[in-house]
Amino acid sequence: MSPTPDPKAGFDAALAAGFDRAWALLAAAPGDPGSGLRLPVVATAYAGESDARVMVVRAVDRAAHCLTVYTDSRAAKVAVLVAAPRVAVTGYDTPTRLQLRLHGAATIATTGNAVDAAWAALTAGGRTAYQSIQPPGTPVAQPQASPVPPPDDGRANFAVVTIVLDRFEWLDLAVPGHRRAIHIRDGVDWRGTWLVP
Ligand SMILES: Cc1cc2nc3c(=O)[nH]c(=O)nc-3n(C[C@H](O)[C@H](O)[C@H](O)COP(=O)(O)O)c2cc1C
Repeated sequence: MSPTPDPKAGFDAALAAGFDRAWALLAAAPGDPGSGLRLPVVATAYAGESDARVMVVRAVDRAAHCLTVYTDSRAAKVAVLVAAPRVAVTGYDTPTRLQLRLHGAATIATTGNAVDAAWAALTAGGRTAYQSIQPPGTPVAQPQASPVPPPDDGRANFAVVTIVLDRFEWLDLAVPGHRRAIHIRDGVDWRGTWLVP
């Protein structure tokens, strides 16, 4: 259960500044190989089973409250996300000592202009992640030396996952006493409150 921010609470500049900073660090993460927020753990839960895996944050759009990751459409997590779109995304950036705990709903796209553009922007090396003959997670007798490109070059297996956030919690360990806050989205509005760390 997450706490409900008090809608009557007055504007808190430090709370707003902390939220802005956390979004800024998240938004910078896709272009910053040194950022721990670029490689968060994305957790799912379905039918009484939980699972979690590291994924690369490819894009962040604060105005749309979302972040984007890529995956193979045949991966086990995709079927899980279709059935149960709620995800938790958790990352820690060591240089700034900032932890983010984000929650939202995932949607998966395999066709359309945005997916085509994302695929076009991938390097040849990046595309190899989508070129296995068998689906990811298939038991095999030996590790594959390298993926074998099918005729379509892997495009048919490429999926863009958009996670629209509605809960954004940050924990700043860099300040004395630490600072923790949670922001809950209602439409386009985010309401935040400090939490005891
Ligand atoms: C550094 C790192 C980055 C990764 N990035 C991705 C990614 O962007 N997308 C992805 O589907 N899997 C990524 N993986 C692999 C996943 O963690 C996971 O092993 C794989 O996707 C299978 O997960 P699943 O069985 O839940 O589908 C990455 C793993 C590591 C270690």
